[in-house]
Amino acid sequence: MASTEERLKDLRNRKARSEAGGGQARVDSQHNRGKMTARERMELLLDDGSFQEMDALVEHRCKDFGMEKNIIPGDGVVTGHGTINGREVFAFAQDFTVYGGSLGEMHGLKICKVLDMALKTGRPVIGMNDSGGARIQEGVASLGSYAEIFFRNVRSSGVIPQISVIMGPCAGGAVYSPAITDFVIMVDKTAHMFITGPEVIKTVTNEEVSFEDLGGAMTHGSKSGVSHFTAVSDEEAIQLARELADLLPQNNMEKPPIRKTSDPKDRICEKLDTIIPTESNKPYDVIDVINEIVDDGAFLEVQADWAKNIVIGFSHLGGNTIGVVANQPKFLAGCLDIDASDKAARFVRFL
Ligand code: HXC
Repeated sequence: MASTEERLKDLRNRKARSEAGGGQARVDSQHNRGKMTARERMELLLDDGSFQEMDALVEHRCKDFGMEKNIIPGDGVVTGHGTINGREVFAFAQDFTVYGGSLGEMHGLKICKVLDMALKTGRPVIGMNDSGGARIQEGVASLGSYAEIFFRNVRSSGVIPQISVIMGPCAGGAVYSPAITDFVIMVDKTAHMFITGPEVIKTVTNEEVSFEDLGGAMTHGSKSGVSHFTAVSDEEAIQLARELADLLPQNNMEKPPIRKTSDPKDRICEKLDTIIPTESNKPYDVIDVINEIVDDGAFLEVQADWAKNIVIGFSHLGGNTIGVVANQPKFLAGCLDIDASDKAARFVRFL
């Protein structure tokens, strides 16, 4: 039997391998693409020193395709909990340096544990996705873990906030799960969301389509409406996730936090007299109206580039979080169409 010293050495060694992820060369490649690593993202998301990691030593148990020779403790996803401005949240970050962040059985079950604990304790979940989807080598075991995740996404819907940040080339299940969460934030240029990649599409349908057109941040932010926010960098995307978590309630039984403001509740909005034109056929920007009314003129617009004929977003009134839905006369004369109706209805349901 191994001595205590040997066992401690083995533990430290496994922890170090877990922290190293897929190795320095892959970490460098991640940085060269302008992307942060999973651990760096987690540290940035949560308040300094608040991150408590769970399951850092979990390993896959696949023995096919030589997988037994390549075991990386943590199995390609960093999971745990911590705080955002002092409020507890659960989070996970997929590690693209380990099998392209792909989701194997144990990787998926680690995410399920985070989702279970978040639901049980009534805390938001933030997922940072950077994954090629189902881990091909693990076949149906991987698909099974995805099913477990989708089941939890659905059960948590309307109970705790679920925020997804897409930070790399995400395919298959790595897209289906975020798409059924409450908010999707994408990083421009480095993040993609597609069911399968351009090469498979070329082989199957002979159609040539670029990464950007198929699943880039602009496509999902302005055409499909799958994405709610586009960020220019990992840092900005994480900041947005923090901002969202900071204005939402922890769960459907609690109230959102009150934000301090020096903007008086009974302030007279004189500008309203002039923003709206006297001629009813003259367009105006309804966002000017919103900015004039809400606390400190601060409005976080959601899905700003999709179905622009309706405006949705968050603000505060007297320090209370509010959701705003407004017809936008500046686009299509504010007429409702299918996309605009879907956009507003989904937001109202969330509220
Ligand atoms: C195992 C994977 C993987 C996957 C990537 N890798 N995706 N390993 N399973 N799904 C590995 C690669 O082999 C490579 O390993 C490393 O991750 C980096 O991948 P690259 O291809 O070199 O990176 P890049 O050029 O940036 O392309 C990323 C990618 C591409 C666009 C994600 O890898 C890709 O198209 N992957 C397959 C996507 C896919 O079809 N997934 C299945 C979806 S189906 P090495 O060792 O070379 O570094 C699905 C079903 C869900 O998810 C259903 C639920 C019920």
